[in-house]
Amino acid sequence: MTSLPITPNVILSVSSISLLLIILLSIIHCEKDLPDWKKSEVYDKERLAKHDGSNPNLPILMAIKGVVFDVSSGRGFYGKDGPYNALVGKDSSRAVAMMSLDPKDLNDNLEGLSDEYLKSLDNTFTDTYLAKYPIVGYTLDFVKAQKTEL
Ligand code: HEM
Repeated sequence: MTSLPITPNVILSVSSISLLLIILLSIIHCEKDLPDWKKSEVYDKERLAKHDGSNPNLPILMAIKGVVFDVSSGRGFYGKDGPYNALVGKDSSRAVAMMSLDPKDLNDNLEGLSDEYLKSLDNTFTDTYLAKYPIVGYTLDFVKAQKTEL
């Protein structure tokens, strides 16, 4: 049996196939699109606040970067007596970015956060929330911001 000689050409084609695969995989990975905000439920602060885990008949909701997730399946984390209950019933992007439960960080204000915190927020958004929890809508502030961008 003759073995394939490892010529520069072979190395080149193997590396371009790998590159192509990486590009394809990242496209597939990014394809988990967010739902269309124009057709989604809108949660103002009062509506979202009702879903803070205190009423067992309501789903537990939490927003990150204006996207509202149903985190009821993580009741152990977010329920009334859970360690992260302070994060729910609101948009707690700042707290998640900073991994902080300080009441002053339990809001959606990202001003002044370092790139490291913003990157960490994006990673948690994708790897934890998008991966684990269904999206049920958007915050009113998110929708308002989209409208001003139009
Ligand atoms: C002593 C400090 C802490 C420890 C030991 C700790 C530990 C953990 C552990 C073990 C998990 C579960 C990982 C998994 O099962 O996938 C987790 C998840 C998480 N932690 Fe912490 N944590 C701490 C502090 C914090 C703080 C201060 C925040 C503030 C935002 C935070 C936010 C989260 C979030 C958002 C999750 C994801 C929950 C989910 O999967 O829905 N953690 N943490």
